[in-house]
Amino acid sequence: RSVESAVKRSRSAHLRRSFHAGAVPERKVAILGAAGGIGQPLSLLMKLNPLVTRLALYDIAGTPGVAADVSHINTPAEVAGYASEEQLGKALEGSDLVIIPAGVPRKPGMTRDDLFNINAGIVKSLCTAIAKYCPNALVNMISNPVNSTVPIASEVFKKAGTYDAKKLFGVTTLDVVRAKTFYAGKAKVPVSEVNVPVVGGHAGITILPLFSQATPSTNALSEEDIHALTKRTQDGGTEVVEAKAGKGSATLSMAYAGAVFADACLKGLNGVPDIVECSFVQSTVTELPFFASKVRLGKNGVEEVLGLGPLSDFEKQGLENLKAELKSSIEKGIKFAKEN
Ligand code: NAD
Ligand code: LMR
Repeated sequence: RSVESAVKRSRSAHLRRSFHAGAVPERKVAILGAAGGIGQPLSLLMKLNPLVTRLALYDIAGTPGVAADVSHINTPAEVAGYASEEQLGKALEGSDLVIIPAGVPRKPGMTRDDLFNINAGIVKSLCTAIAKYCPNALVNMISNPVNSTVPIASEVFKKAGTYDAKKLFGVTTLDVVRAKTFYAGKAKVPVSEVNVPVVGGHAGITILPLFSQATPSTNALSEEDIHALTKRTQDGGTEVVEAKAGKGSATLSMAYAGAVFADACLKGLNGVPDIVECSFVQSTVTELPFFASKVRLGKNGVEEVLGLGPLSDFEKQGLENLKAELKSSIEKGIKFAKEN
C-alpha cells in the first residue's frame, strides 16, 4: 500500500509541476477552414492559447494571409499555413486536435439542414484525410448541420477503421454560451458565475437548454420567462443570421465558443481533472445514437458521458419533441456517408 501511495504522491507532484511550472505537453492543433469567418478569429484565439505548441491553418482559399498575420503574434505557438488539398496531409500530420469550421454558412430564410448538400461533401473529404493522416486526433466538428456532420464523420472513420467514439465531438458550446448570456441578463446574476447545460442537438428545437439546472439558481424567473429564454437560445443562430442580413452567420461568438471547447479538450488531453463541457457525441443517454449532454473530458477524449439529471416537465416535453428531428438528421448523415 505504501508503494501505491508513494506512486500516487509522486504522480500528483508531477501533475502539480505540469500545471503550475508550465511543463505542459506539446500539442499540435489544426484548423480546417481557417481563413473563414469563424476560422480567422478562432485561429487568433488558438494562437493565444498557451497549451498550443503548433498551429496548422488550412483552407482552400486565403490561407497565406491569415497564417502570416496570425504568426506575427508574440505567443509561443508556431504557426504554419497550408493552402491547397495537396498540403492537407502536412497540415494534419501529428495533430492532437483538429477543429473543423469549413463549409458554407446560412443566409436568412435557410435552415442548417439546407447546408447539407454542400457541407456533407466537404466534411466527408476532410474526415477522410483525418483518418489517413492523424487517426488519433480529437475532432471538433463546427460545420453545420452538426446534427448530421458528426454522424457523417463517424461513418467515414468507421469505413477507414479508425473510429473512436471518444474522439469525435460536435461543438455545441455556442448554445451554452448563449444560454448563459441570456439567463444572466434575465435573472440579473453575474454572467461569469452562470452555468446552464444545453442538451439534444444543434438546430432549432433540438437545442434544449436546461434552465431548471441553471446556477446560480433563482426564483425570479416565471414560467413564461423560461419559455422565452428557451426559444431565444434555440433561435440564437437565426437571430444572428437575420442581423447579418445575408453576410453569413455567427462567427465571433462561435470562434469564442470553439476556443473554449478546444481549450477544454486540450486540458482533458493533458490530464487536468474535472473538465466538463456539453457536446454532441455518441451517446446512450437517450435511444438516439448521438446526443449532446455534459461530457467529462480526459486523456483519451470523452471520459464519461453524463446523464441528463432531473428535468422539469417543460424540459421533458422538449426532450420528447426534439427526438424525431434529431433522429432523422442523424440518419440523413449516416445514409449520405454510406452511399457516397
Ligand atoms: P465562411 O464561409 O466564412 O468560412 C468557411 C471557410 O471554409 C472558407 O474560408 C472556405 O474557403 C472554407 N472551406 C470551404 N471548403 C473547404 C474545404 N474543403 N477545406 C477547407 N476549407 C474549406 O463560413 P463560417 O461563417 O466560418 O461558417 C463555417 C461553418 O460553421 C458553417 O457551416 C456554419 O454553419 C458553421 N457554424 C457552426 C456553428 C456551431 O455552433 N457549430 C456556429 C456558427 C457557424
Ligand atoms: C449558430 O448557431 O449560430 C450556427 O449554427 C450558425 C447558424 O446557422 O445559425
